[in-house]
Amino acid sequence: MAATVLDGNKIAAQIKAEVAEEVQKLGAAGIRPGLAVILAGHNPASEIYVRNKVKSCEQLGMLSENLTPPDSVTTAELLQMVNELNNRDEIDGILVQLPLPPQVDSKKVLLAVSPEKDVDGFHPVNVGNLSTQRPGLVPCTPAGVIEILRRSNIAIEGRNAVVIGRSDIVGKPVAMLLLNNNATVTVCHSKTKNIAQIARQADILVAAIGKAGFVTEEFIKPGAAVIDVGINKITDRAQFEKFFAGDPAREKSFAEKGSTLVGDVDPHVAAVAGAISPVPGGVGPLTIAMLMANTVKACKMRRGPERQARS
Ligand code: GUN
Repeated sequence: MAATVLDGNKIAAQIKAEVAEEVQKLGAAGIRPGLAVILAGHNPASEIYVRNKVKSCEQLGMLSENLTPPDSVTTAELLQMVNELNNRDEIDGILVQLPLPPQVDSKKVLLAVSPEKDVDGFHPVNVGNLSTQRPGLVPCTPAGVIEILRRSNIAIEGRNAVVIGRSDIVGKPVAMLLLNNNATVTVCHSKTKNIAQIARQADILVAAIGKAGFVTEEFIKPGAAVIDVGINKITDRAQFEKFFAGDPAREKSFAEKGSTLVGDVDPHVAAVAGAISPVPGGVGPLTIAMLMANTVKACKMRRGPERQARS
């Protein structure tokens, strides 16, 4: 039986509706959550992400501000920008879009973001909060992975989860969230031997390595839930055929655009898995929804009505 397709757009819309309700409640108390995004230089993929982030803020009634320093920006200039945003009361969330230009010390810039405004959850204080199960801001894509599982009624507790990829942005935090939700977690990476064999133990398999179609049918335990975090653009006809031959909708869009998106999971995995998140339309929309949720959370933690009533 073919796998259930986990509809990320639908789940993201649910989350955004909940966030919009929170924004309205805050509005009634005279508070408007605000997100500032720093987009340095002209990376085409980053420009698309940031445009979507700003659009979502506007849809939900939040304040958004977009700072666009040039490719030549220095570490010192970015530090100054971040400091100014740290000191502005109406800004609740600060997101420094990665990758930064090569001359910039990215770690230094991310460290300068106030942990209470760190809606990416990249600051070591928030990384530490996550790993010690303290309240804090959690990275958006990993939080989105958990929301897809939770809202699709896929149990995490007591199950075997395998994460392929160990990046600071996705692999490590998603492994920590799965662990905090009582899964038994294994993290595989480029030096892991017998990845397919380890992956086949997984009830929940998360792929976040950035390699088109890396996870194939032999990685999958029949019935497993497979969450695909990869977004890879393919332009090569032979590669396209390998993944999408016989798919008329994909054929049409590939013929029109000369490219298509494929995740880290080969689409043929759907014949073996129990549930699978598609690319596009799976984890991607959740990342933005969780960013919106984090901005409201940061706002409420720092200046929400309940917080003001306590102090
Ligand atoms: N670039 C790719 N993914 C992300 C993300 O989640 N946050 C930021 N800031 N930059 C990114």
